[in-house]
Amino acid sequence: MWAHLSGVLVLLVLASGQTEAACDCTDTTCNCTGISRVPQDISVPANTTVLNLLNSNIGNFGSFPALAQLQELTLTSNQIDRIQPRAFTPSDHPQLQKVTISNNRINSIQPAAFSELPLLQELSLANNNITSLQPGTFQNLPELRNLSLSYNKIDRVQPSAIDNVPKLQSLDLSSNQIARIQPNAFPSGLVQVDLSSNNITAIDAGAFGNVTLLQQLDLSSNQLRASALLSASVCNDLSSIPGTVDLSDNPWGCDCSGVFPDDLSSCSADIISQIQCTSGGSTSPLTLQGGTVMCSAASVSAYYTPLLLLSVAAMLKNLLM
Ligand SMILES: *[C@@H]1O[C@H](CO)[C@@H](O)[C@H](O)[C@H]1NC(C)=O
Ligand SMILES: *[C@@H]1O[C@H](CO)[C@@H](O)[C@H](O)[C@H]1NC(C)=O
Ligand SMILES: *[C@@H]1O[C@H](CO)[C@@H](O)[C@H](O)[C@H]1NC(C)=O
Ligand SMILES: *[C@@H]1O[C@H](CO)[C@@H](O)[C@H](O)[C@H]1NC(C)=O
Ligand SMILES: *[C@@H]1O[C@H](CO)[C@@H](O)[C@H](O)[C@H]1NC(C)=O
Ligand SMILES: *[C@@H]1O[C@H](CO)[C@@H](O)[C@H](O)[C@H]1NC(C)=O
Repeated sequence: MWAHLSGVLVLLVLASGQTEAACDCTDTTCNCTGISRVPQDISVPANTTVLNLLNSNIGNFGSFPALAQLQELTLTSNQIDRIQPRAFTPSDHPQLQKVTISNNRINSIQPAAFSELPLLQELSLANNNITSLQPGTFQNLPELRNLSLSYNKIDRVQPSAIDNVPKLQSLDLSSNQIARIQPNAFPSGLVQVDLSSNNITAIDAGAFGNVTLLQQLDLSSNQLRASALLSASVCNDLSSIPGTVDLSDNPWGCDCSGVFPDDLSSCSADIISQIQCTSGGSTSPLTLQGGTVMCSAASVSAYYTPLLLLSVAAMLKNLLM
């Protein structure tokens, strides 16, 4: 009986909350709630600089209302599943610097949805339902510095999906479903790339060829195996990254007593030491000693095991004689 009544009360509160669209503004910052229709439900002064449309019921819209002074827009926790071409334009939104449309259900971003916004610096589309980035999705954004696409379902980044963004420093693609990193997938100025918690099994030669300023590359919690990583070209690419590369929590699938590929020795000591091979039930990192790869548990290069056995045999023979 009580459970039944309180259910009715919650419904009434929800229903009345949805019918009342209201914007509360102080100076030029406005918080709006209960918005479902854009542009009809948004009534804010033309000089609004910060607009927060949180936890409302906003579905898809064509172009966002023109606000010539708008600098920061937040549309977190709504029901948006599609960003239309020219949703945001330099003529309607010339001052836009920061856009956050996280926690919606976006599965489609039309090319040129965000194109050519002259001052856009930060864009977050985290926690949506985006599956792929088509060529031209993010392009001609001269001031873009931070782009977050974490917690989506992106399975590939096509070359030129993120293009002509000369100041892009930080790209967050963590917690997606990317399986493979294609050559030259990333624009050249990047300082920080987060690819953790994806499904990466393969890194193509030249994947990080363009990103010569990288300070942090996170490849942790993927599906990398030693055999996929350790071709000379991938090793060289990863080893030539000037900053830190995080390879933790990958299922390396190597055995200390196995034979390591020749090309392993072209990896840097830091990359090598993050590869964990199994040895008698536990895991041990590889080490690079004088150009030779060793598994630290055995302290013996599996590659040279036959040679070692020969020399032990020779020693024994000498002793017995
Ligand atoms: C808007 O909301 C934020 C956080 O929820 C709050 O700090 C700020 O004071 C609000 N501004 C207005 C104008 O209501
Ligand atoms: C913004 O516009 C409102 C009227 O729409 C005005 O009262 C207010 O003074 C303006 N604020 C600034 C900072 O210009
Ligand atoms: C995400 O997209 C899939 C189809 O691609 C759809 O079935 C699913 O309902 C979507 N999820 C949300 C939360 O909209
Ligand atoms: C933007 O990227 C820079 C450089 O990687 C980083 O230091 C900063 O914390 C990022 N800002 C935000 C808001 O994510
Ligand atoms: C991960 O990649 C493999 C093949 O590369 C594929 O079979 C599998 O479905 C992927 N898993 C997810 C969760 O995307
Ligand atoms: C990466 O470099 C190649 C060759 O120099 C170039 O053709 C390509 O456009 C670059 N890619 C990006 C995303 O900057």
